[in-house]
Amino acid sequence: MSVQKSATRLTVPALRARKGGVPIVSLTAYDVETARLADPHCDLLLVGDSLGMVVYGLPSTLAVTLDMMAAHGAAVVRGSSHAVVAIDMPFASYEQGPAQAFESAARLMAQTGAQAVKLEGGVAMAETVHFLVRRGIPVIGHVGLTPQAVNVLGGFRVQGRSRDGWPAIEADARAVAEAGAFSLVVEGVSEPLARRITGIVDIPTIGIGASAGCDGQILVTEDMLGLTPKAPKFVRRFAEVGSAMNDAFAAYATAVRDRTFPAEEETYAQKDPH
Ligand code: KIV
Repeated sequence: MSVQKSATRLTVPALRARKGGVPIVSLTAYDVETARLADPHCDLLLVGDSLGMVVYGLPSTLAVTLDMMAAHGAAVVRGSSHAVVAIDMPFASYEQGPAQAFESAARLMAQTGAQAVKLEGGVAMAETVHFLVRRGIPVIGHVGLTPQAVNVLGGFRVQGRSRDGWPAIEADARAVAEAGAFSLVVEGVSEPLARRITGIVDIPTIGIGASAGCDGQILVTEDMLGLTPKAPKFVRRFAEVGSAMNDAFAAYATAVRDRTFPAEEETYAQKDPH
């Protein structure tokens, strides 16, 4: 299906109003070409700090910096015209308190033109979310499996598999929603918990590894394209782009080695007479 390039961008209030309605379609994007291709199909493009692992090959998201997020965020804004663009606040750029968070978020928004930021955490971040929203910065919350807390969680583990883990995650979701976040990423939780959270909060939940019980879905683009060698159980590979790239690289190498590339039609002729 081909989709026209949109003249006007979706807004944060328009996304907020999608609670319980048409599911929100979201993907990550880190660069201009991915943004350009995904934008017409998506409601929300997230410049996730997952770029640390996907683009830079880091073992976690912890070493991602504000400069990295600003550079990739600006590229995604330049490559898009339809979807809301939100940027992840990287680890250690907001946890000290509301003032640090405001400075970091304002810098990301001013340097990129993005419309929102996302930050991880629940009850502990509610005051910060409230502070940002009251000062004009739309915020997406993120609860459940929060990758920046990988060392506290003891790994990238599904959360809320047994009922005793539910109350804390529900409290996180409620706190972020009540603090004024306009949507909530729910990552790596069991289906019944995702459905409960979606029922509890009055903002749209966007699930990743959190079942169809959310108000929308997000995937890491490289995972769903088949570009990452190993993807978690919850990922559906909608294409095998990695294998298409491998075939293209192999064909190029063969063509260079057997001198069939470049051909005459790929070569500039001399224009003036000899
Ligand atoms: O960093 C990221 O890409 C994310 C999504 C997986 C939600 O936070």
